[in-house]
Amino acid sequence: MKSARLAAALCPALALVFACAAHADGMAVPAHTPAAYTQECSACHTAYPPGLLPAASWKRIMGSLDKHYGTDASLDDKAVAELSRWLQANAGTYKRAVDTPDARITSAAWFVRKHREVEAHTWKLRSGGGPFNCTACHAGAVRGDFSERNVRIPK
Ligand code: HEC
Ligand code: HEC
Repeated sequence: MKSARLAAALCPALALVFACAAHADGMAVPAHTPAAYTQECSACHTAYPPGLLPAASWKRIMGSLDKHYGTDASLDDKAVAELSRWLQANAGTYKRAVDTPDARITSAAWFVRKHREVEAHTWKLRSGGGPFNCTACHAGAVRGDFSERNVRIPK
């Protein structure tokens, strides 16, 4: 546990020198995740690792929770402030973290490319939704684990 945390802390520095597995992908999850994030932001879907989107996207998302991709995901002001700060501090700064027009991870070119082989009907299977439901296929999504090894497409 301790060494994993240490590795996560060192990764940004190490990545400059050699590929640092988790961080090279920018998916490493911060050591501290506010309870409100785990509770509120996983009520309807995966609690996305903050590194999947840049600060600009998180800002737009947290500024319009009452109109959240067609639903109302409003939180009290205190929770919004706390989560906004945490998301800004841990937002992605690597090349995959792009601010798409609809502030979606799933609209990014890399996402579409990586999932090219997932057939349209598969998105709707058991996963209870679509591409946004990372956990349906990536059991380790919340921990930032999207490795090929651990992908399971629901049958
Ligand atoms: C009431 C349910 C609900 C809650 C609570 C909720 N969301 Fe969502 N969220 C949705 C829906 C619905 C979508 C769109 C899913 C789809 O593609 O149809 C979505 C999509 C997203 C996406 C874009 C996913 C993609 O397609 O790339 C992000 C990012 C996101 N939510 C972040 C958050 C954050 C951060 C919180 C907590 C502050 C949160 N959500 C809380 C319902 C919710
Ligand atoms: C229906 C199943 C499914 C869902 C849902 C899904 N993925 Fe994937 N994902 C896959 C498959 C299959 C691959 C390709 C594995 C491979 O061959 O590298 C993949 C690949 C990836 C990769 C590349 C991994 C690598 O090592 O190159 C990332 C990153 C990723 N997904 C992130 C996400 C995120 C983030 C979400 C949610 C917003 C998501 N995926 C939703 C099935 C899914």
